[in-house]
Amino acid sequence: MISYAFLALIPAVLAAQAPSFSAPAGGPTVASSNYVGQNNGTLTKSPVVAGKVFDRFTQIWIENTDFAVASTSRAFIELAKQGILLTQSYAVTHPSEPNYAASVGGDFWGMGDDNLYNIPSNISTVFDLLEAKNISWAAYQENLPFDGYQGFNFTQPNYLNSSAPPYTYYVRKHNPPVLYDSVTSVAERNTRIRNFNDFAADVNASAIPQWNFITPNMINDAHDTDIDFASDWLEFWLVPLLSNPNFNDNKTLILLTFDENENYAINNQIYSILLGGAVPDSLKGTNDSTYYTHYSTLSSVEANWGLGSLGRQDTNKTVSNVYKFLADVVGYKNLDVTGNDIPLTNLTTTIPGPLNPNLYIPFSAPNMNATGAGGGAVFAAPSLNLSATPEVLGGPVNLTALNQTVPASGLPNSSSDSSPPSPSGSGGSSGDATKSVAGSFAVALAAAGAALFML
Ligand SMILES: *[C@@H]1O[C@H](CO)[C@@H](O)[C@H](O)[C@H]1NC(C)=O
Ligand SMILES: *[C@@H]1O[C@H](CO)[C@@H](O)[C@H](O)[C@H]1NC(C)=O
Ligand SMILES: *[C@@H]1O[C@H](CO)[C@@H](O)[C@H](O)[C@H]1NC(C)=O
Ligand SMILES: *[C@@H]1O[C@H](CO)[C@@H](O)[C@H](O)[C@H]1NC(C)=O
Ligand SMILES: *[C@@H]1O[C@H](CO)[C@@H](O)[C@H](O)[C@H]1NC(C)=O
Ligand SMILES: *[C@@H]1O[C@H](CO)[C@@H](O)[C@H](O)[C@H]1NC(C)=O
Ligand SMILES: *[C@@H]1O[C@H](CO)[C@@H](O)[C@H](O)[C@H]1NC(C)=O
Ligand SMILES: *[C@@H]1O[C@H](CO)[C@@H](O)[C@H](O)[C@H]1NC(C)=O
Ligand SMILES: *[C@@H]1O[C@H](CO)[C@@H](O)[C@H](O)[C@H]1NC(C)=O
Ligand SMILES: *[C@@H]1O[C@H](CO)[C@@H](O)[C@H](O)[C@H]1NC(C)=O
Ligand SMILES: *[C@@H]1O[C@H](CO)[C@@H](O)[C@H](O)[C@H]1NC(C)=O
Ligand SMILES: *[C@@H]1O[C@H](CO)[C@@H](O)[C@H](O)[C@H]1NC(C)=O
Repeated sequence: MISYAFLALIPAVLAAQAPSFSAPAGGPTVASSNYVGQNNGTLTKSPVVAGKVFDRFTQIWIENTDFAVASTSRAFIELAKQGILLTQSYAVTHPSEPNYAASVGGDFWGMGDDNLYNIPSNISTVFDLLEAKNISWAAYQENLPFDGYQGFNFTQPNYLNSSAPPYTYYVRKHNPPVLYDSVTSVAERNTRIRNFNDFAADVNASAIPQWNFITPNMINDAHDTDIDFASDWLEFWLVPLLSNPNFNDNKTLILLTFDENENYAINNQIYSILLGGAVPDSLKGTNDSTYYTHYSTLSSVEANWGLGSLGRQDTNKTVSNVYKFLADVVGYKNLDVTGNDIPLTNLTTTIPGPLNPNLYIPFSAPNMNATGAGGGAVFAAPSLNLSATPEVLGGPVNLTALNQTVPASGLPNSSSDSSPPSPSGSGGSSGDATKSVAGSFAVALAAAGAALFML
C-alpha cells in the first residue's frame, strides 16, 4: 500500500532512482544465483486428482495497483486478450498481509497491518481441504532463501545494481502458508514453501502441484517499483510459461491478480485475469462482471474438486462467488452483487478480530453448519475448541489500552529458522535481522518498524 502522507517523507533522490527491469534468471525455468537458495530436489509427483473443470489452479499475485492503472499496462492488456478479464474483482481489506492471509485461511482475522503473526494451529486452511483429497500444493516465493524459511524477510546482494547496498527481495507478509502454524509445524508441509530455483526444477520435472501460489519478489511484483516493471516481469516469466505444457496444459486455470489496490479512498477493486488452457476458447478475450473477492479463489477450488470448506468467509455467499464459467458447469448458483451492494473493502484497522490489538476477539471456531461451494463438511482442525463461537466470545477488547499485544504476534517459530545458506555464486552478504531480535520489547519495536514499512 502507499500512504500518500508517508510518500511525502521519501527523499526525492530515492524516488528518482526508479530502476528498470532486469531479468533475474536466464528464463523462468532456468536456475539463478539471484534466487539465492539452490534447488533441493523436486516435489514428488503424485497422481492427478481430476477436477470438474480444471486439474490445476495457479494464482500469481502482483501488488498495490488500482484497476484503472493496471488496465493501461502492456502485459495486462495483452494477457486479457488470452483470458477472461474479471471486471468486478476486489481485495478484502488493506494493507497487504491480511489479503494474503485471507487467500488461504478464509478470513483476515481483523489484521490491519503487515506485522509478524503466527496464526495458531487450530485454524484450518485450504491446505487441509486439499490434502483431505490428496490434491498436491505449493507456494513458490521468489528469493525465499530456503524451503520453509520462516524469517520476517530476507536481504541479499542487489542483483539490479551490484554496487548498491544489499536488498530485501523476499518478505514474509506476502507468503500465505507461512503465516499459519498448521503449515509451519508440519515438516512435509514446510517443504511446499519453495523458491524460484525449486520452481524451475519442478517445472522441468513436470512436478508442479495441482494448487499453487506464486509470489514474485518486491521489485517484480510492483511493490517497490511500478506496474510497468511488473509488466516487463510478466513478459519475461509468465508469457513463456503459458506455452510450457508442464506449467499450463488444457486442464490448467491461472489467476493473475493483485493483493489490493493502491488508493484507499476508493473501493478496493483489483485487476484480475483468468488464464490458462482450462479457459474455454469461446471465452478468451471476454469480460466477466460477476462480483468476486479473494475468497472466490477458495470457493472456486472447493467447487472444482468437491471439497469441504473452512466455514469462514469462503462460505459467505456475498463475498465468495465461484468463477462463472466454473459455476455454470458445476451448477452452483452465484449471488448477484452489484452497485451499492458491493461491500466496501477499502477499510482497515476497524474490523474486530484475533489479529486486531484495538478490537481484539480470540480466534473463534468456524461455522460448523456452513455449506460451501464444494458441498463437503466444514474442516475442524485438531484441538479446535468447537464451543468457542462468536456468540460465546463476545465483543472486542482493546488490548492496546491494556498494554498488551495480540497473542498470535511475535517471532517466527524458531524450530526451522536455521541459518540461511549464503547466496550461491554471488558471494555477497545476507541478512536476517529477525533472528537477532529477542525479548518482547524488541518484538514491539520490530512490529512498530514493520508498521512504518507496510507499503
Ligand atoms: C489419499 O492417499 C492415501 C495414501 O495413498 C490413501 O490411503 C487415501 O485413501 C487417499 N484419499 C483419498 C480421498 O483419495
Ligand atoms: C531440503 O529439503 C529437506 C526435506 O525435503 C528439508 O528438510 C531441508 O530443509 C531443505 N533444505 C534446503 C536448503 O532447502
Ligand atoms: C547503483 O548503486 C549505486 C550505489 O547506491 C548508485 O550510486 C548508482 O547510481 C546505482 N546505479 C544505477 C544505475 O541505479
Ligand atoms: C530446465 O530445462 C531448460 C530447457 O531444457 C533448461 O534450460 C534449464 O536449465 C532447466 N532448468 C533446470 C533447473 O534444470
Ligand atoms: C488436452 O490435452 C491432452 C493431453 O495432452 C490431450 O490428449 C487432449 O486431446 C487435449 N484436449 C483438448 C480438448 O485439447
Ligand atoms: C472507501 O471507498 C468509498 C467509495 O469510493 C469512499 O466513499 C470512502 O471514503 C472510502 N473510505 C475510506 C476510509 O477512504
Ligand atoms: C458476509 O459478508 C458481508 C460482506 O462483507 C458481511 O457484511 C457479512 O457480515 C458477512 N457474513 C458473515 C456471516 O460473516
Ligand atoms: C448449528 O446447528 C446446531 C444444530 O442444529 C445449532 O445448535 C447451532 O446453533 C448452529 N450453529 C450456527 C452457528 O448456526
Ligand atoms: C485456538 O488456539 C488458540 C491458541 O492456542 C486459542 O487461544 C483459541 O482459543 C483456540 N480457538 C479455538 C476456536 O479453538
Ligand atoms: C485502543 O486503545 C488505544 C490506546 O489507548 C487508543 O489509542 C485507541 O484509540 C483505542 N482503540 C479503540 C478502538 O478503542
Ligand atoms: C500502560 O503503560 C503506560 C506507560 O508505561 C502506563 O502509563 C499505563 O498505566 C499502562 N496501562 C495499563 C492499563 O497497565
Ligand atoms: C526486515 O525485517 C527487519 C526485522 O527483522 C525489519 O527491521 C526491517 O524493516 C524489514 N525490512 C523490510 C524491507 O521488510
